[in-house]
Amino acid sequence: MQLAIKAVISRDEAAAFVRALERADWSNGKATAGYLSAQVKNNAQLREDHPLSRQLGEKILDALDRNEVFIAAALPLKVVPPLFNRYGDAQSYGRHIDGGIRPVFGRPQRVRTDLSATLFLSPPDSYDGGELIVEEAGGAQSFKLEAGDMLLYPANRVHRVAPVTRGARLASFFWIQSMVRLEDHRTTLFQLDNALRTLGRDVPDHPALVEMMGVYHNLLRLWSDT
Ligand code: NI
Repeated sequence: MQLAIKAVISRDEAAAFVRALERADWSNGKATAGYLSAQVKNNAQLREDHPLSRQLGEKILDALDRNEVFIAAALPLKVVPPLFNRYGDAQSYGRHIDGGIRPVFGRPQRVRTDLSATLFLSPPDSYDGGELIVEEAGGAQSFKLEAGDMLLYPANRVHRVAPVTRGARLASFFWIQSMVRLEDHRTTLFQLDNALRTLGRDVPDHPALVEMMGVYHNLLRLWSDT
């Protein structure tokens, strides 16, 4: 399931991120790519230990903690500290697959990458190209979201970033280890959670709601690891 989550941070916050990031010293993105991905990766990245990366990353993690849609869809156990990238003129990232495990910089910790996230920071009309294209069994889907919106997608998908042909595309990207490992299980829980919210709003006094809530939590118990 791919999910575009609106306004994880506000457009004003995204603009402030872009202003701060445009003043930062960027490194070559190949540094954090595996040997196969490095051949198709052409962008700039903020070093993982860059103070700005940590500062802005903390703000994103705080925003995610408050985001009910993210929590319900990802059921997060661990989140890799957010990283930042910049695609300038003619830069792109060809077809690749994200690594299954990510180390956490400066900590003896590893995160299984169940989900990938891209938080778009540049307004879409400020650059041409730069779509995030995710391959699915039924075909590829292309995403170019508003500043502050985030795409959450299963990390096992082949994906790419189309060449930027005007302006610059800044984004934050990171990975999530979910409490619920299997995508079908996460999707089922998310659908049930959404249905329960709708019923809770429309028929809040229906006695069967309690049993249905029980089914949700029993499935969560069956399928989750903490
Ligand atoms: Ni990737």
